[in-house]
Amino acid sequence: MDFKNNILETIGSTPLIKLNKIANELPCQVLAKVETFNPGHSIKDRMAVKMIDDAEKNGLLKPGGTIIECTSGNTGMGIALVSAVRGYKCIFTTTDKQSKEKMDILKAVGAEVIVCPTNVTAENAMSYYSVAERLSKEIPNSYWCNQYDNLSNREAHYESTGPEIWKQTDGKITHLIVGVGTGGTISGTAKYLKEQNPNVKIWGVDTYGSVFKKYHETGEFDEKEIYPYITEGIGEDILPKNVDFSLIDHFEKVSDKDGAVYARRLAKEEGILLGYSCGSAMAGLIQLKDQLSPDDIVVIIFHDHGSRYVGKIYNDEWMRERGFLDTELKVEDLLSRKLTTEFITVNKEKSVKIVLDLMKEHDISQLPVTNGEEELVGSVTESTILSFILENPLNNIEAPISKIMDKPFPVLDTDTYVKELNKYITKERPAVIAKDKSGKLQVVTNYDIIQAL
Ligand SMILES: Cc1ncc(COP(=O)(O)O)c(C=O)c1O
Repeated sequence: MDFKNNILETIGSTPLIKLNKIANELPCQVLAKVETFNPGHSIKDRMAVKMIDDAEKNGLLKPGGTIIECTSGNTGMGIALVSAVRGYKCIFTTTDKQSKEKMDILKAVGAEVIVCPTNVTAENAMSYYSVAERLSKEIPNSYWCNQYDNLSNREAHYESTGPEIWKQTDGKITHLIVGVGTGGTISGTAKYLKEQNPNVKIWGVDTYGSVFKKYHETGEFDEKEIYPYITEGIGEDILPKNVDFSLIDHFEKVSDKDGAVYARRLAKEEGILLGYSCGSAMAGLIQLKDQLSPDDIVVIIFHDHGSRYVGKIYNDEWMRERGFLDTELKVEDLLSRKLTTEFITVNKEKSVKIVLDLMKEHDISQLPVTNGEEELVGSVTESTILSFILENPLNNIEAPISKIMDKPFPVLDTDTYVKELNKYITKERPAVIAKDKSGKLQVVTNYDIIQAL
């Protein structure tokens, strides 16, 4: 039989997956270490089990004890899994900016969750660090993991993440890029990789509102760098002991918007549903593309799963409220709102009467005109027909439409911005033809634009 003795044995050995479409903008190969394959759906399972193993070994955590941790969710999930298997109680402090899904998941795996305010300094008695520390002093037989300063965190990545990446790339990795929070992932993985090949470049992804980049570049801990931001899991207002700045070659800051947009692109273009900081790592890599060449092999670490962010970055309303969605409408947006998608045309030999009947039947005011080969050779509108009928004797209604047709409607790609349509849609020519990537044609009229606004 082939089975694991418990869920903890499934941690690690995650796949390395080539990024395709989204990496087209880059000159080199990009391989993603997709950590969502861990049982808690994040990389933090690795360090959770290591912190607890080490605490048990050092006699800091005794059977039946309570584990306390300040966590944005993922470390908590890992600790909760270990606690379920080994019989510990968990109390987690978290901040009020974390997604509700993360908190609900922690409760589902048996943890008690205490929500603390985000907008207070780390030293403030209400901060999630301070509350965790206080509880660890107050509750008997408790152990505060403190993932920020507990070096078992980065050791976990030195022991597992680093060796896995080295082996999976056959020692060919040239660059590692990863979001930095506690610094455990980047520092442990970088230490192992640089020991194998000191030339491997290590790039950390930081947020605006975090102290890392400036501290790395100037040695100054600048409090003016600190302000609230929306991205979850990366950036800090403290310098955790787990960040080994000497191993990091460069920090790249990524905006809240770009992180969210790239996470959505990873889901749509690669089919990998990931968390916010994964989008930040991807956006950071794209920002650094000029520093890469065709022979490079970049490994990007994706920390956690997108299911924890469905109410946030994967929710259009949430994105729009923060100005993260390009609100500029494209022709494809107009088409998605149309009830009928049929492309109705008429042959140029058909009579004016037949065209009028067709228009009435389908409740449309304009028609593309084709020749026998189904090529678009003209167009006709209700108003052209009306003028013709009013100016000419009634029996002319049997005349072929080619006699009065205008030039064909212009054909545009469906990703044309609606604001550009004014160049094509006029009073005399009230429609264009949109062509999608598969070659499918549809008429777009000024009525469709009004409907969409
Ligand atoms: C979603 C997410 N991304 C990135 C990170 C940063 O990883 P590390 O703390 O190892 O620097 C974390 C850490 O909590 C995280 O939860």
